[in-house]
Amino acid sequence: MTLSLAGRTAEPVPQPVPVRSGGFGGAEGLAAHLAAERIDVLVDATHPYAAAISANAARAAALAKVPLLALRRPAWVPVAGDRWTEAADSAGAARGLGAAPRRVFLALGRQEIAPFVSAPQHHYLVRSVDPVEPPLAVPHAAYIAARGPFREADERALLTRHRIDVIVAKNSGGAATYGKIAAARALGIAVIMLRRPALPDAPAVDTVEAAVAWLDHALTPADARGV
Ligand SMILES: NC(=O)c1ccc[n+]([C@@H]2O[C@H](COP(=O)([O-])OP(=O)(O)OC[C@H]3O[C@@H](n4cnc5c(N)ncnc54)[C@H](OP(=O)(O)O)[C@@H]3O)[C@@H](O)[C@H]2O)c1
Repeated sequence: MTLSLAGRTAEPVPQPVPVRSGGFGGAEGLAAHLAAERIDVLVDATHPYAAAISANAARAAALAKVPLLALRRPAWVPVAGDRWTEAADSAGAARGLGAAPRRVFLALGRQEIAPFVSAPQHHYLVRSVDPVEPPLAVPHAAYIAARGPFREADERALLTRHRIDVIVAKNSGGAATYGKIAAARALGIAVIMLRRPALPDAPAVDTVEAAVAWLDHALTPADARGV
């Protein structure tokens, strides 16, 4: 088994499996890699907003004739007390903040925050795994380098300390980054949620356990399963 990372973070969390890092050169590059390494199954377990690699995985699996499984975290759904609005992307979220100055928590990746320079009237708190270099060209911005998971109690303390009145976030799903959403609900803070990108059709499961079961089935010869 090999885990493939895009190579975005300077110091990725150590993993208990062999890891490779860096792009493949599009779907054709990934297909060539699958063939060269004689890969039996491709699992697309990337982040729900990493749409390019999911599209590449689907195309590469077809080109290399390798079975594909997508591990897709279900999106969070709003519950009573949530104050969510949706935006198509960061630029839409920046517009959605409105004209009056607000105190905004950007829970987005370094690559996604550039459009907020078009709304320099707001105070921004930016949290990212690696430092934002260069900083956002706005007069009021503070930065935190931190890696999840984030607990709800800590998120509540952070939002309160910085007097945040709106969060811009991705609907990542899962528990690791839900703390800010629960904290926003408890504090009555608005959330602008970036819409999930469209992903290719592929056999998909919701959980790692279901993916392992699928792999067991896919990799066990039919006669060994008594079929
Ligand atoms: N997008 C997000 O919101 C988000 C949030 C948290 C974490 N991440 C993680 O950050 C990484 C990159 O995200 P992204 O939004 O830049 O992805 P992306 O837009 O879907 O992919 C851009 C390019 O990066 C390379 N790439 C992406 N994931 C890769 C992987 N696992 N292994 C090898 N190459 C990969 C591919 O380059 P080639 O075409 O050259 O192969 C791909 O075309 C992903 O691993 C994702 O899980 C993303």
